[in-house]
Amino acid sequence: ADILPLGPLPRLIGHRGAARHAPENTLAGIRMAAAQGAKWVEVDVKLTADLVPVLLHDDTLDRTTDGKGPAKDLELGAMRRLDAGSWFSPAFRGERVPTLVEVIQLVLALDLGINLEIKPCPGREEETAGVALTLAYSLWPDDRPPPLVSSFADASLDMARQVVPRWPLGYLIDRRPANWRQRVEQLNVSTINVNARREDAASIREYKTTGRPVLAYTVNTVPVAREVLGWGVSSVFTDTPSGLAEIAG
Ligand code: G3P
Ligand code: MG
Repeated sequence: ADILPLGPLPRLIGHRGAARHAPENTLAGIRMAAAQGAKWVEVDVKLTADLVPVLLHDDTLDRTTDGKGPAKDLELGAMRRLDAGSWFSPAFRGERVPTLVEVIQLVLALDLGINLEIKPCPGREEETAGVALTLAYSLWPDDRPPPLVSSFADASLDMARQVVPRWPLGYLIDRRPANWRQRVEQLNVSTINVNARREDAASIREYKTTGRPVLAYTVNTVPVAREVLGWGVSSVFTDTPSGLAEIAG
């Protein structure tokens, strides 16, 4: 099958919004990324106890909110009462854990592209992709390039391929699995999303033999960005779009 098309890939993608400058995975973070000139943002999606897709990176609430314990045990109402900004800076006090609905509305309003990283709590790989992408698909306008959907979780990507058969997938990896070529073909992904720290010019060339662009996380300095782009990487995920503005192109 043909590789499903993506919208034009920008050289910089705001990581978790603009994680150096605003609390990660919040509406303020997405606005910050846009204000810094990012054309796309990457966010992490998981489910509340009552199966509402929200943005949160960790399995637990402790690091990025004033709550405690597993995110999967809290219903939306309780999660919405948490403060997801003060841990980062008092300037962001009152920032909430955003719902995926709010995030989609905001990126559409700001005309941003988005990479939805499905980040399931353990054991919820399939339902996280199923619920989040059914919702995202229902909200996404036909006349805009669709989100790029990625996940480290095999079961989430398999489910994504079923739920949004026409949306581009990103094969997201840390250490390269032995069966990576097989997965790239089987899922018919549109991109390969790698950890910049684990790669080099030769490994990037190998990925590119599949005909897919390679995206690399997380790159926060201009020299590293230049090196990684020099290997043939198309885009870097960065916590600091403003810090990398000179390579935005
Ligand atoms: O999707 C790229 C990157 O966000 C993957 O790692 O842990 O920051 O979600 P992580
Ligand atoms: Mg992520």
